[in-house]
Amino acid sequence: MSDDIIKLENVKIEREGGVTFVILNRPEKRNAMSPQLHMDMCEALDWAENDDQTRVVVITGAGGHFCAGQDLKLYFRGTEDDPKLRAKARRAAHSWRWDKLSRFPKATIAMVHGYCFGGGFTPVIACDFAFAADDATFGLSEVNWGIIPGGLVAWAVTQIMNYRDALYYCCTGERFSGAEAAAMKFVNKSYPMADLRAKTLEFAKTLEAKSPAALKYTKEAVRSVRGMTQDQAYDFLNCKSDALKFADPEKGREKAMKMFLDDKVFKPGLGEFKRG
Ligand code: COA
Repeated sequence: MSDDIIKLENVKIEREGGVTFVILNRPEKRNAMSPQLHMDMCEALDWAENDDQTRVVVITGAGGHFCAGQDLKLYFRGTEDDPKLRAKARRAAHSWRWDKLSRFPKATIAMVHGYCFGGGFTPVIACDFAFAADDATFGLSEVNWGIIPGGLVAWAVTQIMNYRDALYYCCTGERFSGAEAAAMKFVNKSYPMADLRAKTLEFAKTLEAKSPAALKYTKEAVRSVRGMTQDQAYDFLNCKSDALKFADPEKGREKAMKMFLDDKVFKPGLGEFKRG
Protein backbone atom coordinates (compact mmCIF):
# COMPACT_ATOMS: atom_id res chain seq x y z
CA MET A 1 0.00 0.00 0.00
CA SER A 2 1.29 3.46 -0.75
CA ASP A 3 1.99 5.84 2.10
CA ASP A 4 -0.23 8.60 0.75
CA ILE A 5 -3.40 6.65 1.59
CA ILE A 6 -5.67 8.65 3.87
CA LYS A 7 -6.13 7.27 7.41
CA LEU A 8 -9.62 7.48 8.89
CA GLU A 9 -11.35 6.20 12.02
CA ASN A 10 -14.28 4.37 10.40
CA VAL A 11 -13.19 3.93 6.79
CA LYS A 12 -10.36 1.84 5.42
CA ILE A 13 -8.71 2.22 2.01
CA GLU A 14 -7.07 -0.58 0.04
CA ARG A 15 -5.54 -0.42 -3.42
CA GLU A 16 -5.18 -2.84 -6.33
CA GLY A 17 -3.31 -0.69 -8.86
CA GLY A 18 -5.76 1.95 -10.07
CA VAL A 19 -8.68 0.31 -8.27
CA THR A 20 -9.30 1.79 -4.82
CA PHE A 21 -11.48 -0.05 -2.32
CA VAL A 22 -13.21 2.37 0.06
CA ILE A 23 -14.34 0.18 2.94
CA LEU A 24 -16.92 0.98 5.60
CA ASN A 25 -15.03 -0.13 8.65
CA ARG A 26 -17.12 -0.77 11.77
CA PRO A 27 -17.30 -4.55 11.40
CA GLU A 28 -18.28 -5.10 15.05
CA LYS A 29 -21.44 -3.05 14.31
CA ARG A 30 -22.01 -4.60 10.88
CA ASN A 31 -20.81 -1.26 9.43
CA ALA A 32 -23.85 0.62 10.71
CA MET A 33 -23.37 4.25 9.72
CA SER A 34 -22.54 6.57 12.61
CA PRO A 35 -22.08 10.34 12.20
CA GLN A 36 -18.30 9.79 12.25
CA LEU A 37 -18.51 7.14 9.53
CA HIS A 38 -20.48 9.56 7.31
CA MET A 39 -17.88 12.28 7.83
CA ASP A 40 -15.07 9.83 7.13
CA MET A 41 -16.77 8.69 3.92
CA CYS A 42 -16.99 12.31 2.76
CA GLU A 43 -13.26 12.68 3.35
CA ALA A 44 -12.44 9.34 1.73
CA LEU A 45 -14.34 10.16 -1.45
CA ASP A 46 -12.80 13.63 -1.69
CA TRP A 47 -9.40 12.02 -1.28
CA ALA A 48 -10.10 9.33 -3.93
CA GLU A 49 -11.41 11.94 -6.37
CA ASN A 50 -8.13 13.82 -6.17
CA ASP A 51 -5.84 10.82 -5.93
CA ASP A 52 -4.09 10.41 -9.29
CA GLN A 53 -3.60 6.65 -8.88
CA THR A 54 -7.31 6.01 -8.32
CA ARG A 55 -9.17 5.26 -11.56
CA VAL A 56 -12.06 3.19 -10.22
CA VAL A 57 -13.61 3.20 -6.73
CA VAL A 58 -15.17 0.12 -5.15
CA ILE A 59 -17.39 0.78 -2.13
CA THR A 60 -17.72 -2.17 0.24
CA GLY A 61 -17.83 -3.14 3.91
CA ALA A 62 -15.37 -4.81 6.29
CA GLY A 63 -15.94 -8.06 8.16
CA GLY A 64 -18.17 -9.86 5.65
CA HIS A 65 -21.02 -7.33 5.57
CA PHE A 66 -21.79 -4.28 3.48
CA CYS A 67 -23.80 -2.09 5.87
CA ALA A 68 -26.53 -2.50 8.52
CA GLY A 69 -28.01 0.92 7.69
CA GLN A 70 -27.97 4.00 9.87
CA ASP A 71 -26.61 3.45 13.36
CA LEU A 72 -29.76 3.45 15.49
CA LYS A 73 -27.81 4.36 18.60
CA LEU A 74 -25.34 6.97 17.33
CA TYR A 75 -27.11 8.45 14.30
CA PHE A 76 -30.70 8.49 15.62
CA ARG A 77 -30.80 8.35 19.43
CA GLY A 78 -27.37 9.94 19.87
CA THR A 79 -28.36 13.11 18.01
CA GLU A 80 -31.90 13.50 19.37
CA ASP A 81 -30.88 16.20 21.85
CA ASP A 82 -28.20 17.73 19.68
CA PRO A 83 -29.79 19.42 16.66
CA LYS A 84 -26.45 20.77 15.43
CA LEU A 85 -24.86 17.32 15.40
CA ARG A 86 -28.05 15.90 13.83
CA ALA A 87 -27.88 18.48 11.03
CA LYS A 88 -24.16 17.89 10.49
CA ALA A 89 -24.60 14.10 10.41
CA ARG A 90 -27.58 14.35 8.08
CA ARG A 91 -25.69 16.62 5.68
CA ALA A 92 -22.64 14.31 5.66
CA ALA A 93 -24.88 11.24 5.19
CA HIS A 94 -26.56 12.77 2.18
CA SER A 95 -23.36 14.23 0.81
CA TRP A 96 -21.36 11.02 0.40
CA ARG A 97 -24.20 8.56 -0.20
CA TRP A 98 -25.76 10.59 -2.97
CA ASP A 99 -24.19 13.91 -3.96
CA LYS A 100 -20.58 12.79 -4.06
CA LEU A 101 -21.13 9.22 -5.26
CA SER A 102 -23.68 9.88 -7.96
CA ARG A 103 -21.54 12.69 -9.41
CA PHE A 104 -18.20 11.01 -8.85
CA PRO A 105 -15.92 11.71 -11.81
CA LYS A 106 -14.41 8.21 -11.82
CA ALA A 107 -16.25 4.90 -12.18
CA THR A 108 -17.80 3.55 -8.98
CA ILE A 109 -18.86 0.01 -8.08
CA ALA A 110 -20.74 -1.16 -4.98
CA MET A 111 -19.58 -4.62 -3.90
CA VAL A 112 -22.21 -6.03 -1.55
CA HIS A 113 -21.79 -9.04 0.69
CA GLY A 114 -23.53 -10.04 3.89
CA TYR A 115 -26.12 -7.57 5.16
CA CYS A 116 -27.29 -4.45 3.35
CA PHE A 117 -30.15 -2.72 5.17
CA GLY A 118 -32.04 0.55 4.98
CA GLY A 119 -29.74 3.52 4.47
CA GLY A 120 -27.14 1.13 3.02
CA PHE A 121 -29.26 1.00 -0.14
CA THR A 122 -28.51 4.61 -1.09
CA PRO A 123 -24.80 4.20 -1.89
CA VAL A 124 -25.50 0.94 -3.73
CA ILE A 125 -27.90 2.84 -5.98
CA ALA A 126 -25.69 5.93 -6.32
CA CYS A 127 -22.74 3.85 -7.56
CA ASP A 128 -22.54 3.35 -11.31
CA PHE A 129 -22.47 -0.42 -10.95
CA ALA A 130 -23.29 -2.93 -8.24
CA PHE A 131 -22.15 -6.53 -7.79
CA ALA A 132 -23.39 -8.74 -4.96
CA ALA A 133 -22.66 -12.10 -3.41
CA ASP A 134 -25.41 -14.60 -4.29
CA ASP A 135 -26.14 -14.98 -0.59
CA ALA A 136 -26.02 -11.29 0.34
CA THR A 137 -29.09 -10.13 2.31
CA PHE A 138 -30.85 -6.93 1.27
CA GLY A 139 -33.67 -5.47 3.33
CA LEU A 140 -35.64 -2.23 3.53
CA SER A 141 -36.25 -2.86 7.19
CA GLU A 142 -37.45 0.63 8.16
CA VAL A 143 -41.11 -0.41 8.25
CA ASN A 144 -40.20 -3.11 10.79
CA TRP A 145 -39.32 -0.52 13.38
CA GLY A 146 -41.76 2.23 12.66
CA ILE A 147 -40.00 4.62 10.32
CA ILE A 148 -40.10 5.31 6.59
CA PRO A 149 -37.20 4.75 4.19
CA GLY A 150 -36.05 8.34 4.64
CA GLY A 151 -32.82 10.15 3.88
CA LEU A 152 -33.56 9.68 0.15
CA VAL A 153 -33.88 5.87 0.33
CA ALA A 154 -37.51 5.77 -0.89
CA TRP A 155 -36.66 8.07 -3.79
CA ALA A 156 -33.46 6.21 -4.65
CA VAL A 157 -35.14 2.80 -4.81
CA THR A 158 -37.74 4.13 -7.24
CA GLN A 159 -34.90 5.29 -9.52
CA ILE A 160 -33.63 1.76 -9.93
CA MET A 161 -36.34 -0.73 -8.95
CA ASN A 162 -39.50 -1.55 -10.71
CA TYR A 163 -42.22 0.51 -8.97
CA ARG A 164 -44.12 -2.55 -7.74
CA ASP A 165 -40.92 -4.09 -6.34
CA ALA A 166 -40.03 -0.78 -4.66
CA LEU A 167 -43.39 -0.57 -2.92
CA TYR A 168 -43.40 -4.27 -2.09
CA TYR A 169 -40.02 -4.29 -0.39
CA CYS A 170 -40.48 -0.87 1.29
CA CYS A 171 -43.89 -1.83 2.70
CA THR A 172 -43.08 -5.39 3.76
CA GLY A 173 -39.43 -5.12 4.83
CA GLU A 174 -39.07 -8.59 3.26
CA ARG A 175 -35.46 -9.52 2.66
CA PHE A 176 -34.08 -10.52 -0.74
CA SER A 177 -30.81 -12.21 -1.68
CA GLY A 178 -28.00 -11.02 -3.92
CA ALA A 179 -29.13 -13.54 -6.55
CA GLU A 180 -32.67 -12.11 -6.40
CA ALA A 181 -31.25 -8.58 -6.54
CA ALA A 182 -29.44 -9.51 -9.76
CA ALA A 183 -32.58 -11.13 -11.21
CA MET A 184 -34.56 -7.92 -10.63
CA LYS A 185 -31.62 -5.82 -11.88
CA PHE A 186 -31.19 -4.02 -8.59
CA VAL A 187 -27.52 -5.02 -8.99
CA ASN A 188 -25.75 -5.79 -12.25
CA LYS A 189 -24.63 -9.30 -11.32
CA SER A 190 -24.26 -11.66 -8.42
CA TYR A 191 -21.58 -14.28 -7.84
CA PRO A 192 -20.76 -16.94 -5.25
CA MET A 193 -19.21 -15.15 -2.28
CA ALA A 194 -15.84 -16.82 -2.90
CA ASP A 195 -15.64 -15.20 -6.36
CA LEU A 196 -17.13 -11.77 -5.61
CA ARG A 197 -13.94 -9.80 -5.02
CA ALA A 198 -12.09 -11.34 -7.99
CA LYS A 199 -15.06 -10.77 -10.33
CA THR A 200 -15.51 -7.20 -9.12
CA LEU A 201 -11.81 -6.52 -9.57
CA GLU A 202 -11.83 -8.04 -13.05
CA PHE A 203 -14.67 -5.73 -14.04
CA ALA A 204 -12.98 -2.74 -12.38
CA LYS A 205 -9.85 -3.45 -14.42
CA THR A 206 -11.84 -3.33 -17.67
CA LEU A 207 -13.09 0.11 -16.62
CA GLU A 208 -9.58 1.17 -15.60
CA ALA A 209 -8.37 0.39 -19.13
CA LYS A 210 -10.82 2.81 -20.72
CA SER A 211 -10.15 6.47 -21.44
CA PRO A 212 -10.85 8.31 -18.16
CA ALA A 213 -12.29 11.29 -20.03
CA ALA A 214 -14.58 9.18 -22.24
CA LEU A 215 -15.77 7.19 -19.23
CA LYS A 216 -16.42 10.31 -17.15
CA TYR A 217 -18.32 12.05 -19.93
CA THR A 218 -20.31 8.91 -20.73
CA LYS A 219 -21.36 8.50 -17.09
CA GLU A 220 -22.33 12.13 -16.81
CA ALA A 221 -24.26 12.02 -20.06
CA VAL A 222 -26.28 8.90 -19.21
CA ARG A 223 -27.01 10.17 -15.71
CA SER A 224 -28.07 13.64 -16.80
CA VAL A 225 -30.34 12.73 -19.71
CA ARG A 226 -32.58 10.62 -17.47
CA GLY A 227 -34.26 13.76 -16.17
CA MET A 228 -34.48 15.56 -19.52
CA THR A 229 -36.96 15.90 -22.34
CA GLN A 230 -35.89 14.60 -25.74
CA ASP A 231 -35.15 18.13 -26.99
CA GLN A 232 -33.07 18.96 -23.96
CA ALA A 233 -31.19 15.67 -24.20
CA TYR A 234 -30.43 16.13 -27.89
CA ASP A 235 -28.99 19.58 -27.30
CA PHE A 236 -27.16 18.56 -24.13
CA LEU A 237 -25.56 15.50 -25.73
CA ASN A 238 -24.33 17.54 -28.71
CA CYS A 239 -22.73 20.05 -26.34
CA LYS A 240 -21.30 17.28 -24.18
CA SER A 241 -19.78 15.54 -27.23
CA ASP A 242 -18.14 18.78 -28.34
CA ALA A 243 -16.89 19.46 -24.82
CA LEU A 244 -15.25 16.02 -24.62
CA LYS A 245 -13.22 16.75 -27.76
CA PHE A 246 -11.56 19.64 -25.94
CA ALA A 247 -11.47 18.12 -22.47
CA ASP A 248 -9.73 14.81 -23.29
CA PRO A 249 -6.00 15.26 -22.65
CA GLU A 250 -5.32 11.92 -24.42
CA LYS A 251 -7.17 13.01 -27.59
CA GLY A 252 -8.59 9.49 -27.79
CA ARG A 253 -11.16 10.31 -30.45
CA GLU A 254 -8.58 11.60 -32.92
CA LYS A 255 -6.19 8.73 -32.23
CA ALA A 256 -8.90 6.09 -32.55
CA MET A 257 -10.27 7.65 -35.75
CA LYS A 258 -6.81 7.63 -37.35
CA MET A 259 -6.14 4.04 -36.27
CA PHE A 260 -9.46 2.86 -37.69
CA LEU A 261 -9.81 4.97 -40.85
CA ASP A 262 -6.22 5.57 -41.94
CA ASP A 263 -3.94 2.96 -40.37
CA LYS A 264 -6.59 0.22 -40.29
CA VAL A 265 -5.08 -1.32 -37.17
CA PHE A 266 -8.06 -1.04 -34.84
CA LYS A 267 -11.77 -1.94 -34.80
CA PRO A 268 -13.74 0.00 -32.15
CA GLY A 269 -16.53 -2.57 -32.21
CA LEU A 270 -14.14 -5.22 -30.94
CA GLY A 271 -12.55 -3.32 -28.05
CA GLU A 272 -10.73 -0.14 -27.14
CA PHE A 273 -7.37 0.82 -28.65
CA LYS A 274 -4.24 0.68 -26.53
CA ARG A 275 -3.99 4.01 -24.75
CA GLY A 276 -0.77 5.92 -24.03
N1 COA B 1 -27.52 0.43 14.38
C1 COA B 1 -26.82 0.31 15.51
N2 COA B 1 -26.19 -0.82 15.87
C2 COA B 1 -26.30 -1.86 15.05
C3 COA B 1 -27.01 -1.81 13.85
C4 COA B 1 -27.65 -0.59 13.52
N3 COA B 1 -28.31 -0.42 12.37
N4 COA B 1 -26.94 -3.01 13.24
C5 COA B 1 -26.20 -3.77 14.05
N5 COA B 1 -25.80 -3.08 15.14
C6 COA B 1 -24.97 -3.53 16.25
C7 COA B 1 -25.78 -4.40 17.23
O1 COA B 1 -26.48 -3.60 18.14
C8 COA B 1 -24.64 -5.17 17.87
O2 COA B 1 -24.00 -4.32 18.79
P1 COA B 1 -23.53 -4.92 20.24
O3 COA B 1 -22.49 -5.94 19.90
O4 COA B 1 -22.99 -3.74 20.96
O5 COA B 1 -24.75 -5.52 20.86
C9 COA B 1 -23.66 -5.39 16.72
O6 COA B 1 -23.95 -4.37 15.76
C10 COA B 1 -23.82 -6.71 16.03
O7 COA B 1 -25.18 -6.84 15.68
P2 COA B 1 -26.04 -8.15 16.01
O8 COA B 1 -27.47 -7.79 15.91
O9 COA B 1 -25.58 -8.75 17.29
O10 COA B 1 -25.56 -9.08 14.81
P3 COA B 1 -26.39 -10.11 13.91
O11 COA B 1 -25.41 -10.60 12.89
O12 COA B 1 -27.07 -11.12 14.76
O13 COA B 1 -27.53 -9.26 13.17
C11 COA B 1 -28.38 -7.46 11.83
C12 COA B 1 -27.14 -8.27 12.26
C13 COA B 1 -27.82 -6.40 10.87
C14 COA B 1 -29.38 -8.38 11.11
C15 COA B 1 -29.07 -6.84 13.06
O14 COA B 1 -28.08 -6.21 13.85
C16 COA B 1 -30.09 -5.79 12.68
O15 COA B 1 -31.22 -6.11 12.42
N6 COA B 1 -29.67 -4.51 12.61
C17 COA B 1 -30.56 -3.43 12.23
C18 COA B 1 -30.63 -3.38 10.72
C19 COA B 1 -31.59 -2.31 10.26
O16 COA B 1 -32.79 -2.45 10.38
N7 COA B 1 -31.04 -1.25 9.69
C20 COA B 1 -31.82 -0.17 9.14
C21 COA B 1 -31.61 1.04 9.95
S1 COA B 1 -32.48 2.38 9.14
